[in-house]
Amino acid sequence: MIIKDKEFVPYLESKRIQETISQLASRINVDYAGKTPLLLAVLNGSFMFAADLMRNLNIPVEISFIRLSSYKSTRSSGRVKELIGLEENIFGRHLIIVEDIVDTGLTMRHLLNELQELGPKSLEVATLLHKSEATKEVIDLKYVGFVIPKKFVVGYGLDYDGQGRNLNDIYSLAN
Ligand code: IMP
Repeated sequence: MIIKDKEFVPYLESKRIQETISQLASRINVDYAGKTPLLLAVLNGSFMFAADLMRNLNIPVEISFIRLSSYKSTRSSGRVKELIGLEENIFGRHLIIVEDIVDTGLTMRHLLNELQELGPKSLEVATLLHKSEATKEVIDLKYVGFVIPKKFVVGYGLDYDGQGRNLNDIYSLAN
């Protein structure tokens, strides 16, 4: 499969993705029984995962979509992304961040820090993919779909240069 100038090969089939999401949702249904969690889906990449995860939840649940700005320079660490689009008051809420992929973890660490300051009652992460070998920030990821090697992937919401999000399966960059 060619996307723009790169070749990608099949990596995770839609059926496996859906089975895994259903298992993650079952855990969330149990863990959040009696609560009404608020899913915070990080755009753009997580829109498909968030939709399918939500469809498999049978507890009262809400969803809101957030986004991280493109990189902003800072005096200290160099580059950070800023949280934008959060309209809900999340004080006292049970939050679950829904992300497509955690790579180095830097983005997630920053997001967790920003959200923690707003006083949620609990804060957990659901990520479809985790490139555990790429970790630079160790994060407690409660709900992980697949641990994958340090290879670039596209499909099921994830893009290569804006394209490939529409694919039902996930593909990895060919060697
Ligand atoms: P991190 O801060 O290194 O964990 O980067 C996380 C972000 O990088 C994700 O939210 C994605 O937007 C992007 N990203 C990392 N790896 C991939 C990949 O293999 N395919 C598509 N996007 C990726």
